Amino acid sequence: MLTIKDKTFVPFITAETIQNRVLELAAQISLDYAGKQPLIVGVLNGAVLFAADLFRNLTIPCEITFIRVASYQATESSGKLKQILGLSESVTDRHLIVVEDIVDTGLTICEVCDQLRAGNPASIAIATLLFKPAALKKEVALDYVGFEIENRFVLGYGLDYDGLGRNTKDILVLQ
Ligand code: IMP
Repeated sequence: MLTIKDKTFVPFITAETIQNRVLELAAQISLDYAGKQPLIVGVLNGAVLFAADLFRNLTIPCEITFIRVASYQATESSGKLKQILGLSESVTDRHLIVVEDIVDTGLTICEVCDQLRAGNPASIAIATLLFKPAALKKEVALDYVGFEIENRFVLGYGLDYDGLGRNTKDILVLQ
């Protein structure tokens, strides 16, 4: 159990379950991208731990970079469209795998992919640790999903509540 400010969070997905799933996703991506040298594009801050764990378990030649977009306010997705910051590499003709912590309304990932597409990559795939299908507002094709979860607020393993709680190995859910 973890209390941050006014909210209490209880266990939801254990570190062991997360790590096992990350290994499965990494194995699948390594198979799918053999010979393609993909560029992993981690979306900060939330995807930092997932992107790192996924990346270190890929067994193919690959690169990693990180971008930043809109920040998340309290327990509600802002839905505001924001610019991608921090992308210094050219994405032209690259096979991109965008790595997100969670797809909630889907607006963030759609915006990120639209902006990346403008750079004419060879392909774009999405890998998200968590997916809340019930919250989805925009149709989006997710290529690699760690866990489909119900529409509840979660934190840990990179996900935060008002900036806090990212540094837990387990994922917890709002009580
Ligand atoms: P979307 O644009 O609504 O899909 O929101 C995506 C972003 O909102 C994620 O990258 C997270 O930063 C944040 N987010 C959505 N749901 C949660 C949650 O349950 N816990 C923590 N952050 C969340």
